[in-house]
Amino acid sequence: MMKAIYPGSFDPVTNGHLDIIQRAAILCDELIVAVLDNEEKKTVFSVNERMEMLENSLKELPNVKVLAFDGLAVELARRENAHLIRGMRDIGDFRFEWEAAQLNKTLGKIETLFLMTNPQYAFISSSRIREIARLGGNVSDWVPESVQKYLLRLSRNNTQDSFSRK
Ligand code: PNS
Repeated sequence: MMKAIYPGSFDPVTNGHLDIIQRAAILCDELIVAVLDNEEKKTVFSVNERMEMLENSLKELPNVKVLAFDGLAVELARRENAHLIRGMRDIGDFRFEWEAAQLNKTLGKIETLFLMTNPQYAFISSSRIREIARLGGNVSDWVPESVQKYLLRLSRNNTQDSFSRK
């Protein structure tokens, strides 16, 4: 039985994340999408909103469930007796992911499995999507329709949200 956890911020979930989830769900018997709920990591959307966006997009995948987590991803993986799964967009992601995978292997003897991001999504990130949406751009190629509704709110409020890769 192959069980895996796909941890992330999902602020918001993008079609790039969903592509990884769909492909991972084929490889696993059970996939848990674990949404980081950590006050130190500021997000634009609340953990409930981020989970809602994921759940709305994953209704057709019976072996995928969504939960919130606080603390170390590796501890969650140990508790669930699962591997970790991460997407890798490009060489820019490699350094961060390599370090995290080595730490998680050392901390909890947990393997991280990587799926290469589909090239059509390799240049998008949640933060870019938020930025474009906030400035009134069209993000319909990169997020599902249900997520676009949440993003509309950013454009009305015009909140501060400086750029990062995630
Ligand atoms: O979507 P993101 O922001 O790239 O996800 C990063 C995430 C949530 C996977 C990472 O920050 C994480 O695992 N945080 C939980 C705390 C933890 O385990 N830190 C040690 C990482 S080696």
